[in-house]
Amino acid sequence: MINWIIRENPPYPHLQCSNLVFSEEVQDSIVGFMAITWLTLWFVFGKKSGTFNSSFILDSKHRGTLVLVEWFFRLVFLTVREVKMEALEAIRQRRNVRSFTGAPIPRSDLEKIVDSGRLAASGSNRQPWDFVVVTDRKVIACLKVAGPWIEKAGAVIAVVLDPYSHWWLQDGSAAVQNMLVSATALGYGACWFEGDILPMEDELKTLLGIPPGKRLMTLVPIGVPAEIPQVEKRPLENVLHWEKY
Ligand SMILES: Cc1cc2nc3c(=O)[nH]c(=O)nc-3n(C[C@H](O)[C@H](O)[C@H](O)COP(=O)(O)O)c2cc1C
Repeated sequence: MINWIIRENPPYPHLQCSNLVFSEEVQDSIVGFMAITWLTLWFVFGKKSGTFNSSFILDSKHRGTLVLVEWFFRLVFLTVREVKMEALEAIRQRRNVRSFTGAPIPRSDLEKIVDSGRLAASGSNRQPWDFVVVTDRKVIACLKVAGPWIEKAGAVIAVVLDPYSHWWLQDGSAAVQNMLVSATALGYGACWFEGDILPMEDELKTLLGIPPGKRLMTLVPIGVPAEIPQVEKRPLENVLHWEKY
């Protein structure tokens, strides 16, 4: 039921097509399937009409079928292209959300969000991160010591870094930004939360079982937004310098 509400009533209605997100494997399968179908049709129809070459496309007997098949493929291709464009829209729409309805988040969506953190850029590709996903309401309630509004998040992702990497803060920041954008693309709101957690890092690490040598960089509360704040951004012409500052 909750799943249906989230899916059918996303907080960003214009991103409804985010349900069409295909994994890389699915995209590969679609392209492979298209190639095999094309070759089969080409071979079967070409052989039947006695011309295993491009001229049989002009044969009126087969043109209708080929046009239908082509349109099917075009639709699939367009859908895949649309999904790729969505990243730009999600970057545009992302806001730091601090107000949630309290609805839970499906595990599969949380996995997608963490996966996008895992895929972030990192210095020397060290990937010095781990992600602790907290969905237990009692533990989330404990995390509210870092910020009272966290209690209504559907989940909180604790971003853990290994400071052995020289660039651990930059690496962690890249992972957090990826996750914020993915959460937006999936119709959720999320927050980059630093706040008061650094002074209470040790207590939170103990609560979440994080090893002493690791750093708790950030908490990322995620949920169905109750309110999406608007913020002023510096205009592009103020920040974009072509060739020289
Ligand atoms: C390093 C860093 C630390 C932040 N810490 C907090 C925080 O502790 N609490 C909070 O509510 N927002 C925090 N934010 C979110 C910013 O306040 C927010 O990104 C900024 O106001 C711009 O809004 P936007 O994210 O909606 O564009 C942090 C963001 C960054 C990058």
